[in-house]
Amino acid sequence: MIDADLRDELGALLDRRAAFDEPLARATSLRVGGPADALVRVDDGAELAAVLRLCSAHSTPVLVLGAGFNTLVRDGGFRGVAVRLGGFREISQDGPVLRAGAGATHTQVTRAAAEAGLAGLEFAIGIPGTVGGWVAMNAGTREREMRDVLARVEWVTREGEPQAADRDALVFEYRHTRLPEGSVVTGARFALRPDDPERIRGRMREQMEARRASQPVDQPSCGSVFKNPPGDHAGRLIEASGLKGQRAGEAAISDLHANFIVTRPGARAADVLELIELARERVRERTGIELETEARIVGEPA
Ligand code: EPU
Repeated sequence: MIDADLRDELGALLDRRAAFDEPLARATSLRVGGPADALVRVDDGAELAAVLRLCSAHSTPVLVLGAGFNTLVRDGGFRGVAVRLGGFREISQDGPVLRAGAGATHTQVTRAAAEAGLAGLEFAIGIPGTVGGWVAMNAGTREREMRDVLARVEWVTREGEPQAADRDALVFEYRHTRLPEGSVVTGARFALRPDDPERIRGRMREQMEARRASQPVDQPSCGSVFKNPPGDHAGRLIEASGLKGQRAGEAAISDLHANFIVTRPGARAADVLELIELARERVRERTGIELETEARIVGEPA
């Protein structure tokens, strides 16, 4: 539990935007997970910095949720402060550069890029989440990743200091961008290229159709569960292990794409974790390949 002083300070700073003992199932796209000690919504950089400083002063863990994709919260919930970015959604254009706040969603940014006649983000239409999530995990597809289109990243350090760096000064890894421990991404600039808006929209439609045909976009999930191992695809490996459609409680390995786990009402994080372990085990036994989760798994067991 967070201490009473921190609770009071968060309440004084954010009023009704600070909730306590709040279920995270509603704040994550998988729709499972126990309560956070505190779930807060910050609406600008100053509030974010203030919350980070308070948590730092009370040595309290922080979980930044974004749109709640890519995150599996265990059934016992999160001992600390979960933060959602309200606001942080402004999108602006400066020539071929598009700047977006970390809270802007994948739909808002890709739509804005098409309207501005800026090409380069079409690949990302297949990746659900916010700009903050895209950047923090260097989100990508087989062809491209955030590293290829970013010009600059802005963030706030754990101590509440705003910082920014150009792409070349940053280190990008597979599904991870290295930033100082505890930092929260607040915005990004994308270096794009001018093109006809209709052509961009056409490519986005194609991507979206391909995604709808191969991914369970209308069911609760956290996006890809596992990273792709070198030279192969987690989805292919799990399907080849005979696990498509496998159920545990109210969770199932999607029968559309085996690297997705989907849930129905009543699902528990434990159901999802059981399927993750099963997929890992079967793929390991059959191929010797050790799958690593792409989704971050946080919180306490029930
Ligand atoms: N495949 C199967 N069975 C399945 C699923 C896939 O055999 O059940 C095969 C496909 O036939 C294909 C290969 O595996 O030959 C790759 O599948 P897909 O094109 O769907 O791409 P992916 O590698 O599974 C990646 C990203 C997705 C992104 C798509 C778009 C990772 C871990 N995932 O998936 O990102 O939408 O490319 O091309 O890199 C996410 O990160 O959350 C995410 C959704």
